[in-house]
Amino acid sequence: MATTKFIVPEGVLPSHLGLIDQCKTDTSPFKVNGIIGLYADEEGRPYVMESVKRAEMEMAKDVLEGNLFHEYSTSTGIREYTNFAMEIALGQGSLAIREGRVCALQTTGCLGALRVAMESLCQQLHRTVIYFPQQTWFLHANIANKSGFEDIRYYRYVNVATNCDLDFEGLLDDLKKAPAKAVVVLQAVAHNPTGIDPNVKQWEKILQVVQERELFPLFDMAYQGLVSGDVDKDAFAPRLFEQAGMELMIATTGSKNFGLYSERTGALIIVSNNPDNVSSLETTVVKQVIRPGPGLSPIHGATVVIRILSDPVLKEQWKMELQAIADRLRTVRVKLRSLIEALNQKPNSWKHLTDQQGIFSFLGLSLEQCRYLIHEKRVYLYENSRINMAAINMNNVEYVAASIVEAERI
Ligand SMILES: Cc1ncc(COP(=O)(O)O)c(C=O)c1O
Repeated sequence: MATTKFIVPEGVLPSHLGLIDQCKTDTSPFKVNGIIGLYADEEGRPYVMESVKRAEMEMAKDVLEGNLFHEYSTSTGIREYTNFAMEIALGQGSLAIREGRVCALQTTGCLGALRVAMESLCQQLHRTVIYFPQQTWFLHANIANKSGFEDIRYYRYVNVATNCDLDFEGLLDDLKKAPAKAVVVLQAVAHNPTGIDPNVKQWEKILQVVQERELFPLFDMAYQGLVSGDVDKDAFAPRLFEQAGMELMIATTGSKNFGLYSERTGALIIVSNNPDNVSSLETTVVKQVIRPGPGLSPIHGATVVIRILSDPVLKEQWKMELQAIADRLRTVRVKLRSLIEALNQKPNSWKHLTDQQGIFSFLGLSLEQCRYLIHEKRVYLYENSRINMAAINMNNVEYVAASIVEAERI
């Protein structure tokens, strides 16, 4: 065998990555791909919004006519895009925006925004402790670690007895014990992987503890709009914190609410208390974190967003399409719950399915039950019972419900 100097330590792949590969090559006609985190339409295909297609058609025409180029962007990103990103996150009436206390930096999706936020917080602003929900997006802690955080902690999130609802007392208890100045990462809406979000009263309580403990809130708002269909409603939590006068950061993205997954279109929004330090903060983040790190962001997705939001017709169409996505996800939840409860004859036993929201659900099944679904029924999901609700549609919902009920009997 030829020798190589590229000796890498054997890594352990997260189990879902192996399952994704298995799912891709599975040719079973019953296959349900609930493992990949993309929105799919009723036919199970990746979905491109009509508003996005129309914006891209215009852009193609502009490229052909020599009016649009593949130029480098600027260090902060396209200003028009970051202004829209600010407005989508904080709302048109935001006091912080009006007072000039906000800056927004374009990033490579939400992941890029999280990385820039965490590296800035750790290496420039000298925060040393960061908290995540106990169940969270699988890359969160890794991003924190690569950003320099050595002290990574977790607050309780899912009730371990049921594995499908919020352990709110545990969450509060852990945040109350957090050291002052710790960064607390909060998923703003449509929590990944559980679909379990705090309600209004619970967010108010979380805000109170974050204020009392002097914690720094970093919101991950990857799924804004996918719960209610309305970006304003879905931004309730970070806006509540902003209106309470808190300094905060929000990682945002067009991956989900514009379906621009591959175009790496995101922004980090930073809200300060003092308009005088915004520009030096922005310069520091750009010089110390963005330029030597991820560098300039791509312009294609950002241009699509700008075109849609600055054209009243396209904007209206996009809003309707986002609403339709949210409505479909809710319809699937209702249908699946009613079919399962009809089959298992236990009324309200699957209420968690309609209490949870957004694209993901924690089904509350055991490892063994999940494995049964995957290997015997070809209904692919994470082994912790996270399933992508968008993979379920009116063609396969009965099969999924019957498979779940079979798994419950194990
Ligand atoms: C909670 C959460 N944050 C961030 C991201 C990353 O989003 P993006 O693809 O825009 O980088 C994801 C993607 O799945 C996510 O689920």
